[in-house]
Amino acid sequence: MRLRDISISYGGGEPVLEGASLEVPAGKFVSLVGPSGSGKSSLLRAAIGLQKPLAGNVEIEFGRAEVGILFQDDALLPWKTARENVALGLTFHGVKREQALREADAALAKMGLQGFENRYPRHISGGQRKRVAIAQVLALKPKLLFMDEPFASLDAIVRARVVQDVVQLVEREGISVLLVTHDLGEAISLSDTIYLLSQGPRAHIIQKYDVPIPRPRSLISARAHPAYGPLYQKLWSDLSLEVTGKVAEAAE
Ligand SMILES: Nc1ncnc2c1ncn2[C@@H]1O[C@H](COP(=O)(O)OP(=O)(O)O)[C@@H](O)[C@H]1O
Ligand SMILES: [Mg+2]
Repeated sequence: MRLRDISISYGGGEPVLEGASLEVPAGKFVSLVGPSGSGKSSLLRAAIGLQKPLAGNVEIEFGRAEVGILFQDDALLPWKTARENVALGLTFHGVKREQALREADAALAKMGLQGFENRYPRHISGGQRKRVAIAQVLALKPKLLFMDEPFASLDAIVRARVVQDVVQLVEREGISVLLVTHDLGEAISLSDTIYLLSQGPRAHIIQKYDVPIPRPRSLISARAHPAYGPLYQKLWSDLSLEVTGKVAEAAE
């Protein structure tokens, strides 16, 4: 997936983004970080096709059916069980109901939700709801996954566990990912490559960082790796410089 020289403006105003380019190579996990309001979500929406750019182009080597999307707010239907919620996407794509339910159970099991198939969204925790939403997307076997702050609503411990499972799943299934996040630690732990967006307006990519932490990874092994600390420090100071114009010490 490639974004070339993307510019976006709303209502004909000054461009929010100008000349933003990035690439997600096959099977790689790429994160986009940047100041709040810099245009991360706008860029992601352009990649998905939900936002028409003023200029630039989007190249995706997969069909629409092979692209999965996960946003911060899950879109589970409250009147359907976990299993039915996951099966819904499959039947929508033409899978027969019986098979869709079987595949839904398999996807839920992969997210550690065996035994919760018949629960309604209001009868499970926030972390479990997030897992159902992830299962819903993964059941469609996407080759390319777009995520915009998908874990932001979760508290720290639940979040770490969900992120951990996502690391393993994405590694195992070889899915290409573009993740928008403001969490630098999460970006490092999950990614092969991180792009930093400048402060808007006219935001563009100002840095690309390779994450030299081998796979398979766990959250713990990633954080314990000698490259983690220096990269966190570098990202933090580059981001702070962008936001405040001053170099700052890392908070972690
Ligand atoms: N639908 C919209 N209409 C007008 N302005 C928007 C819209 N969406 C985003 N913006 C503006 O574009 C800028 C970038 O927003 P966004 O892409 O959400 O940034 P980020 O995800 O990095 O926080 C912000 O100034 C925001 O107010
Ligand atoms: Mg955003």
